[in-house]
Amino acid sequence: MQPVNVAVFGCTGMVGQQFVRMLENHPFFRISGLFSSSASAGKIYGEHAEWVMETEMPPGVKKMPIREFDMNFIRKNDIRLVFSALPASIARRLEGEIRRDGIAVFSNASAFRMDGDVPILIPEVNESHLLMVEKQKLMYGGFVVTNSNCSTSGLVMALRPITGFGIRSVSVSTYQAISGGGLNGVRAMEIQGNILPFIKGEEEKMVAEAGKILGKFHPGGLKTWDVAVNASCCRVPVRNGHLESVTVELEDDADPGDLINAWTSFRGGLQSYHLPTAPMRPIIFRTEENRPQPLVDGFAGDPHRARGMAVTLGRLRKRKRWIQFFLLVNNTIRGAAGTCILNAELACKKNLIPEI
Ligand SMILES: NC(=O)c1ccc[n+]([C@@H]2O[C@H](COP(=O)([O-])OP(=O)(O)OC[C@H]3O[C@@H](n4cnc5c(N)ncnc54)[C@H](OP(=O)(O)O)[C@@H]3O)[C@@H](O)[C@H]2O)c1
Repeated sequence: MQPVNVAVFGCTGMVGQQFVRMLENHPFFRISGLFSSSASAGKIYGEHAEWVMETEMPPGVKKMPIREFDMNFIRKNDIRLVFSALPASIARRLEGEIRRDGIAVFSNASAFRMDGDVPILIPEVNESHLLMVEKQKLMYGGFVVTNSNCSTSGLVMALRPITGFGIRSVSVSTYQAISGGGLNGVRAMEIQGNILPFIKGEEEKMVAEAGKILGKFHPGGLKTWDVAVNASCCRVPVRNGHLESVTVELEDDADPGDLINAWTSFRGGLQSYHLPTAPMRPIIFRTEENRPQPLVDGFAGDPHRARGMAVTLGRLRKRKRWIQFFLLVNNTIRGAAGTCILNAELACKKNLIPEI
């Protein structure tokens, strides 16, 4: 397969950098354009980007110029797919414009997430929702596929394998890393030695997005997952990785061994596509009493390209119909750039990327 030319929007930011890192030597995609705001435009990526990833900046992007939104450049360079890490406030306009030009947009922004014809895709959980793009293609030529808010991605991955046990209600409390707020999102003076019990819009997103992702899609539309989800979200002084404490009320009593088996045997059904960023085991269950931890479990997942794509669970406790557990999700990989890339890989395999 000839690599598809792609662009990264918001390339200097936290998620944008994760895109740039994960797209190095990608077998399907080749970065042909780097875009950011007017403050960065005209500068050279290797000189301007404040690189905060754990690995070195890929040599192939160091000398690339950063550009402001430029549809002519996109057309001229045969860019057929855009990875977006834009702030939601501008994503609606820019991503909408790109979609109208017949291009596939894979976005981390919340701008389009709740639109009826736009999937919030986590392919191990709701692969069938990708079909929503057909309607968009008819209307616009291109399409937008979003992935969920970072904390929602961990929650729905943990819930999907156990929905068969019958879920009555879900309560989740989060301990979210500062990288989730973006490169300049949380001030050191606020978070050092502190916990912030409020993240604007986060609790509402977790509730609404979980309902959409776990809903059933059929050609007539989407039937939302109708289970009460309650969320309380905190920012904690951790660099990467969102920890979540989850309580699930089941319909009936369930055996803990059966629940653990449902999680550890969960594969998400993507094996036949051989997607480079798909983890072999999307859920890892730890039996140690002090796991999962952000520092230790943040890069769970194999093969190498899927590091950070597995969600780690642990500390299962059960009292009658109530179960409690912790989960850890890498917010910039599984919760952002990694799932976005996985979604694009799946769309490529299904021949959904529009030809220009
Ligand atoms: N961080 C996470 O864990 C996470 C997880 C899931 C989803 N998300 C979502 O992903 C998106 C990016 O988040 P982030 O954490 O990477 O934020 P960030 O670190 O603040 O980065 C924002 C990026 O957008 C660019 N940008 C800002 N204003 C722009 C404009 N007017 N035109 C073009 N580009 C502009 C910035 O470029 P300059 O450097 O030039 O200003 C920067 O590259 C957000 O919608 C966020 O909600 C983030």
